[in-house]
Amino acid sequence: MDGVDIMKTLVVDDKPDNVELLSQILEDDYDVISAYNGADCIELAKEQHPDLILLDVMMPILNGYDVLEILQEDENTRDIPVIFLTAEYKDTDRIVRGLETGAVDYITKPIQDEVLLARIRSVIRIKKAEDEVKRQRDDLKRVNKELKVSQEQLVRKNKLITIGKVAGSMAHELRNPLAAMETSAYYLSKVLTDASGKVKKHLDIIHSNIRISDNIISEIVDFSNTRKLFMENCDISKVIENALKDFTIPENIIIETRFNDSLPEIPIDIEQILRLFKNLISNSIQAMPDGGRLDIETNANGDYVEVKFMDTGVGIPEENLENIFEPLYTTKAKGMGLGLMIVQENINNHKGTVEVESEVGRHTIFTIKLPVKQESQTNSAASGNIFADNT
Ligand SMILES: Nc1ncnc2c1ncn2[C@@H]1O[C@H](COP(=O)(O)OP(=O)(O)OP(=O)(O)O)[C@@H](O)[C@H]1O
Ligand SMILES: [Mg+2]
Repeated sequence: MDGVDIMKTLVVDDKPDNVELLSQILEDDYDVISAYNGADCIELAKEQHPDLILLDVMMPILNGYDVLEILQEDENTRDIPVIFLTAEYKDTDRIVRGLETGAVDYITKPIQDEVLLARIRSVIRIKKAEDEVKRQRDDLKRVNKELKVSQEQLVRKNKLITIGKVAGSMAHELRNPLAAMETSAYYLSKVLTDASGKVKKHLDIIHSNIRISDNIISEIVDFSNTRKLFMENCDISKVIENALKDFTIPENIIIETRFNDSLPEIPIDIEQILRLFKNLISNSIQAMPDGGRLDIETNANGDYVEVKFMDTGVGIPEENLENIFEPLYTTKAKGMGLGLMIVQENINNHKGTVEVESEVGRHTIFTIKLPVKQESQTNSAASGNIFADNT
């Protein structure tokens, strides 16, 4: 509502003479529409959303109070200010209720032109002030919401940076003792040439576990080192097949893939997406300790290629769903709680999306969407390091 705009006023009275009289008073300043009964008033209010309604109280069938109640039940008409036109105050209760719930004013008949116009101006002033307050309240709500989101992002980012620093320095510190163990194990295997089979077996175990630990350290170092994203066009089904190769699938788990052959190659950082797929596959396998089935499916979805991982595992309780992408969140005795955080960050780097839906005891479905085109194909645009401070 703006003082400069011509405002639309709906005049409602069952007596045509009254409507005529009111229209004459108002027509110089307002765009006037009229109705002669409550039902028409409600219909016009919904259709044309006037800025103000002058509403006669004493009307047959639906009187002014009934009309107001109906208008206020509908969120589209609730905010329209109403001025009652009444010859007498019979029903004080309803007048009070009407005033309290939003009918802004009332005027007694016979109507004096100047009083009516002044009342309308005052109602408009109040309505304008209310609208402004509402607008500011909505703005404040929106800003608060935005602030909360960026605060959460900042907390998450800081957590990641801290994890990156701790993990990086731990990995660095662990390398030296591990190298010493490696040298000693190597020395022992050299000098114990006539050792028994059991001793040899245990030396092999030491060797292979040193290798496993070294691989884990390499991964952590890789995370905490800054690396640019390296985008190349790639067939996503090949990446899934490569990810699967790294797993020894337990006998009681069936894994089936359904690849859409007509999908285009898409620009991805293969290393990141491979890691992301591995994390999802390992979660699914871990979620099916008593066996089950993992279906992996690719499809086209508008400007995206969609990959679904559907397992028949233990599922995720609804209350945990909002936490699973948080760093260090895990429900597993030996979990680090990093897998899905990496999935989320890698997906963000690719401007894609990840969604999860799950039913406890039945299934979990992770849906990944990756854009067919990247806005910027330059390989230096984003940092591939999720733990680094890129700000
Ligand atoms: N497919 C799934 N089925 C059931 N629960 C899942 C599944 N995927 C993830 N979760 C839940 O989400 C949690 C977080 O997963 P995430 O991969 O981030 O960490 P993690 O698997 O516990 O540890 P890690 O760092 O070794 O991956 C898991 O602990 C598990 O509770
Ligand atoms: Mg995991």
